[in-house]
Amino acid sequence: MEAIILAGGYGTRLRPLTYSRAKPLLPIMNKPMVSYIAEQLPPEVDKVILAVNYRKDQIEQYFKNHDFGRELIVNDEPEPLGTGGATKFAQKHITGPFLVLNSDIICSLNLSKMIEYHKKHKAMATISLWPVENVSEFGVVDMGADEGSVIGFVEKPKPQDAPSNLINAGAYMLEQDILDYIPSGKLVSMEKEIFPQIIQKTNRFFGYQFEGYWIDVGRITSYLDVHKRLLSAQNLDNFFGENVQNNGVLKNTVVGDNASIANGAALDGCIVLDDAIIEEGCNLKNSVIGAHATIKQNSILDYTVAGDNESVEGTHHNELIWTQEIPKGYPKKQIGNVIGE
Ligand code: GTP
Repeated sequence: MEAIILAGGYGTRLRPLTYSRAKPLLPIMNKPMVSYIAEQLPPEVDKVILAVNYRKDQIEQYFKNHDFGRELIVNDEPEPLGTGGATKFAQKHITGPFLVLNSDIICSLNLSKMIEYHKKHKAMATISLWPVENVSEFGVVDMGADEGSVIGFVEKPKPQDAPSNLINAGAYMLEQDILDYIPSGKLVSMEKEIFPQIIQKTNRFFGYQFEGYWIDVGRITSYLDVHKRLLSAQNLDNFFGENVQNNGVLKNTVVGDNASIANGAALDGCIVLDDAIIEEGCNLKNSVIGAHATIKQNSILDYTVAGDNESVEGTHHNELIWTQEIPKGYPKKQIGNVIGE
């Protein structure tokens, strides 16, 4: 079975971190986020199609250096085609029912169980479902009378109007015929344009609800949050990569390889990426420090992101710091499947 890993988005909500690197390679607990879904692939999957575009060389390089035990096809889109367009663009490699997986979700979904559920229901499409409290931030599914059947989506409903509290959790099991519904060569959102058509035309659209945990790491707040949750789940105060020099006082903080933190620095709820330098006396809270960035002596950062290679001094509250050139073609706002900040 083939699995398409969607890894070609710009990740605009994670800028400035995504100005210099592919979003799927942003580390979570010092490991690229895409490695979590790659490690979660079920035994049924023997071929992985990496749907890439933006910063594809970085992603390709990573997969060349890390063998996930599957045949790998790097499917390079000529331009970003969105979640639906990227799936259609992989058509030539699809030989039967297949999986489509977002690369920016950390969750406990058992894909083998979802495949089984899909087969049992003779579904055209099965999507993973996760219950949320804040329905008004998501597209919520409307469940039908048949167990597990989905009859529609309602975008960002008011809580009192929400047909359920279940949202699309970013993993799909699809029959090959689904590809006939997706137009070629254009930007298409699977969620907004294709799924509603499949529901309407086939009446065989199902949702598979799972338990455990689900975190969408697509925005800065959730990027910070996933680290706090994983630290707590592993009963860790902090997490250090290899070769870290730490002389500061840290709490709820994750530090990448070769980073250094000087005397008198205090970090709380932060992510420090590889090779970053935090100088003496800094006070950093709920902030992300990019790779090779330097935070100068006595700086104070709070809810701030310093991009890779930035040099930062002074006090910064709620800022995205990027003084370098923005990559050519990088969109000013989300494209395709707009979800919101
Ligand atoms: P934002 O710009 O912050 O919305 O991020 P994004 O570009 O990653 O979009 P989104 O979070 O909606 O993407 C969901 C998944 O689809 C992620 O795994 C993306 O890498 C992937 N994705 C989004 N757009 C494209 C695309 O045009 N091509 C491919 N191949 N993957 C995409």
